[in-house]
Amino acid sequence: MAWYCSGSTNIELVENLFKVGLIKNERVKQAMIGVDRAHYAPSRPYSDSPQPIGYGATISAPHMHGHACEYLIDYLKPGARVLDIGSGSGYLTHVLANLVIDSSDTGPGQVIGVDHIPQLVDLARNNMNKSDKGQELQASEKVRFITADGRLGWKDGAPYDAIHVGAAAEELHSVLVDQLRAPGRLFIPVEAENDGTTLSSLGLGGGQYIWVVDKKEDGSVQKEKVFQVSYVPLTDAPSA
Ligand SMILES: C[S@@+](CC[C@H](N)C(=O)[O-])C[C@H]1O[C@@H](n2cnc3c(N)ncnc32)[C@H](O)[C@@H]1O
Repeated sequence: MAWYCSGSTNIELVENLFKVGLIKNERVKQAMIGVDRAHYAPSRPYSDSPQPIGYGATISAPHMHGHACEYLIDYLKPGARVLDIGSGSGYLTHVLANLVIDSSDTGPGQVIGVDHIPQLVDLARNNMNKSDKGQELQASEKVRFITADGRLGWKDGAPYDAIHVGAAAEELHSVLVDQLRAPGRLFIPVEAENDGTTLSSLGLGGGQYIWVVDKKEDGSVQKEKVFQVSYVPLTDAPSA
């Protein structure tokens, strides 16, 4: 699909993803059109595939960014607070900011990107500063990039309307659910449990699934395993 959806410009890439139904939501489409991937991906920015960004990390494929936003869209209203764990290049953090922060917004909306590699946090800040809007968002602290272990979330900014996790967790970290607002939604890839139905039990290697976790208004929690994926793991930070 990558060759089919790729484009020669940012707008062409996003339009192609929309045309084949990999992005369906108009707000997500506009938010992605509003962020030039060339500011975030050093090579082949308009290809629908992951690309290396240094420090052993990649920027995820555009269709995965689109899927993540679409699963979270009902919680990405103007003024919402969002946590993006494993923010890497900063691309998705910027798209999320386009969804929840108006240029005139003086409200509570904020997007926090967390990565455990300080050089990637600097990279994300620099990438975002390549556009005027990105500079404004950072200057006003509507967008912040923080160096931390994302498995612990970022308590200082909680509660969040939406939490996105961009690397596979070993478990469905309850601390992240604790940091959700009620109502709020968590989108997280989790290593498959050895429940007798996974690929690993068939000797075909491990699997990971996206889990969508909703905290309802009354505080109750509902979890749904939605589709299989292949993400790099959430790990300890590399030693300096
Ligand atoms: C596949 S990359 C996704 C990056 C980002 N979503 C993007 O598209 O540019 C996964 C990111 O998770 C980060 N990461 C891995 N383990 C982490 C942890 N424990 N805490 C915070 N970030 C972590 C990596 O440094 C990497 O930047």
